[in-house]
Amino acid sequence: MTKRYATLVVHKVSAGVQLIELNRPAALNALTTAMLGELSVVMDLAEAEDDIRVLVLTGNRKAFAAGADIKEMAERDLVGILNDPRQQHWQRISRFPKPLVAAVNGVCLGGGCELAMHADIILAGADARFGQPEINLGIMPGAGGTQRLLRAVGKSMAMQMVLTGEPITARQAQQSGLVSEITQPELTVERALAVAASIACKAPLAVRLAKESVLKGMDTDLASGLRFERHAFTVLAGTADRKEGIAAFQEKRKPEFNGQ
Ligand code: CAA
Repeated sequence: MTKRYATLVVHKVSAGVQLIELNRPAALNALTTAMLGELSVVMDLAEAEDDIRVLVLTGNRKAFAAGADIKEMAERDLVGILNDPRQQHWQRISRFPKPLVAAVNGVCLGGGCELAMHADIILAGADARFGQPEINLGIMPGAGGTQRLLRAVGKSMAMQMVLTGEPITARQAQQSGLVSEITQPELTVERALAVAASIACKAPLAVRLAKESVLKGMDTDLASGLRFERHAFTVLAGTADRKEGIAAFQEKRKPEFNGQ
């Protein structure tokens, strides 16, 4: 089943997996407020729908997204940026509780790179280019770029990317830890869907708490992170899916998780 929005195309691909394509090819998928708004709506629907367990987000072969839409940005003054509705959309995307996998081909720049970094897993085609070129426009990343990039690739690489604006290759992105796997460009989406399918058949509550726990570790000290992990692990002890997972292992069969 496929649903078309003005700037997105959303496909129900397989059990539990939904694919979202950014669809403004003429502008290299530059992110408008409307596009981020549609992404928020799709995420609201996906969060509420039990049958959707994992989202895959992609662009096209030429561009994941070339950044915030510069034409739209040019019209915003200081007050416009202070009251920018995009902030709410970014927050909504960052709060999405189910796994989000980004399948990146082509340019992934500025807000596009920031969007990819909202994903839990980034897979890239060999020709992908990641960058934060805002400095060339006399501005700086404003949708998490300085913070998420720092955490993903470390200080030196983050500084180099943010201060020079020069993009890095898929290979550099993988070596730095921004990207988990590199694929042939024509296989990036297929591979991302396979990773998503592998997650979609796991126990949803375990997936949700495991995601939360890893994310917690990104912005807290080790002791607090370990406390959170222990708590989440203990909570899962009360789930039917834990019983099912262990029983299936002992009975040498595939588990059937139902999200309870
Ligand atoms: N915003 C709006 N339109 C964009 C765009 C963007 N970020 N990036 C590309 N486009 C448009 C171009 O204007 C062009 O449209 P027209 O044909 O109507 O002129 C079309 O997409 C194709 O682009 P190019 O002709 O430039 O394609 P290219 O292959 O020669 O170059 C590119 C590709 C190197 C990515 C180049 O387009 C580019 O440098 N784009 C801007 C990248 C950038 O600076 N991104 C950061 C934006 S700021 C930001 O993201 C801030 C934030 O989130 C907070």
